[in-house]
Amino acid sequence: MTARLFEPVNLRGVTLRNRVVVPPMCQYSAEDGVAGDYHLVHYGRFALGGAGLVILEATAVVPEGRITHGDLGLWSEAHGEALARIARFLKAQGAAAGVQLGHAGRKASMQRPWYGNGPLGPEDLARGDAPWEIVAPSPVAMDEGWLVPAELTPAAMAALTGAFAAAAGRAERSGFDVIELHCAHGYLLHSFLSPLTNHRTDGYGGDRAGRMRLPLEIARALRAAWPADKPLFVRVSAVDGIEGGLTLDDTLAFARELEGIGVDVLDCSSGGLAGSATAARVRRDYGFQVGFAEAVKRETGIAAMAVGLIVDPAQAETIVAEGRADLVAVGREALADPNWALRGTGGYAAWPQQAGWWLERRAGDIERL
Ligand code: FNR
Repeated sequence: MTARLFEPVNLRGVTLRNRVVVPPMCQYSAEDGVAGDYHLVHYGRFALGGAGLVILEATAVVPEGRITHGDLGLWSEAHGEALARIARFLKAQGAAAGVQLGHAGRKASMQRPWYGNGPLGPEDLARGDAPWEIVAPSPVAMDEGWLVPAELTPAAMAALTGAFAAAAGRAERSGFDVIELHCAHGYLLHSFLSPLTNHRTDGYGGDRAGRMRLPLEIARALRAAWPADKPLFVRVSAVDGIEGGLTLDDTLAFARELEGIGVDVLDCSSGGLAGSATAARVRRDYGFQVGFAEAVKRETGIAAMAVGLIVDPAQAETIVAEGRADLVAVGREALADPNWALRGTGGYAAWPQQAGWWLERRAGDIERL
């Protein structure tokens, strides 16, 4: 039985047809940040496959905030128009459309994973992928051999907050239902939150309140720019998994502040802050991050999304039915099977009729064999 998983859920004025979410997954396939046919078909498969909400990959609010040259962006109206086509299709197929807004910080200027997954270097120039100058809270490189980021000035931070708000406005005009703010995986806003990467001595560093300041300012700006009837998600790395890094207590404090701002869902991931020299050690097992969502739900008033090696509908059902999370994100398993959500329903009634009509009859044929 997967009854709870497939119950609709209301978030502000948006109804998700079920609790299955496809989380943001970079495709590194954009041209100058603009989505193309590839993205329409790729994301469209998840909507046809029955997901309640499809969140588009990390989408940079400024060009230099991309991880790689292939990342999506939302820094101009043309970028918004390309995404509008995708949002329209997702919604026409019954899924809610989300987009994750982010800035890569010190993990910007990287190679696409299949070209090495390291910092862009001279050999990447042959592909036209030139490195660019990167920024972060403090001039601390990701790892040996990586670019040292420039420290963001207060003026640059104010401009960045404006860029996030402007991107939210474009997302609204593109027809998205959900925005997710990326505060996880070692990218810019996570690197502000963590004491390991934020060594600032001004009001944007130091104690927990200082380290939370820029992410909270941006969350507030997004909430103001985003319609009151549309939900705002924030993705966090709930723990760094490194000595001296972010702890669950820090994340719960952040969640309470976000709740006060009007953030609706905390998407609970983990890790990603450091390079190989201090590799994070969050043990990966089935549902290994569900406990973070559960703690957020228990300790704060904000709704929580669980993610990470949730692979089986029965596993997802249990998470939701036991009240450990409100939403369940299925990433790589959805790449393996974009129809994951539909398969979880256990019949063909929910399938698009273009396939379901035939599959139902085929099931009868097979039964008679
Ligand atoms: C990711 N992930 C990710 N996370 C995020 O917050 N923004 C992103 O753009 C990406 N990009 C991305 C690309 C690809 C190809 C993968 C596989 C993953 C992480 C992803 O959202 C999810 O948290 C993890 O994959 C863990 O969930 P699963 O895959 O075990 O269900």
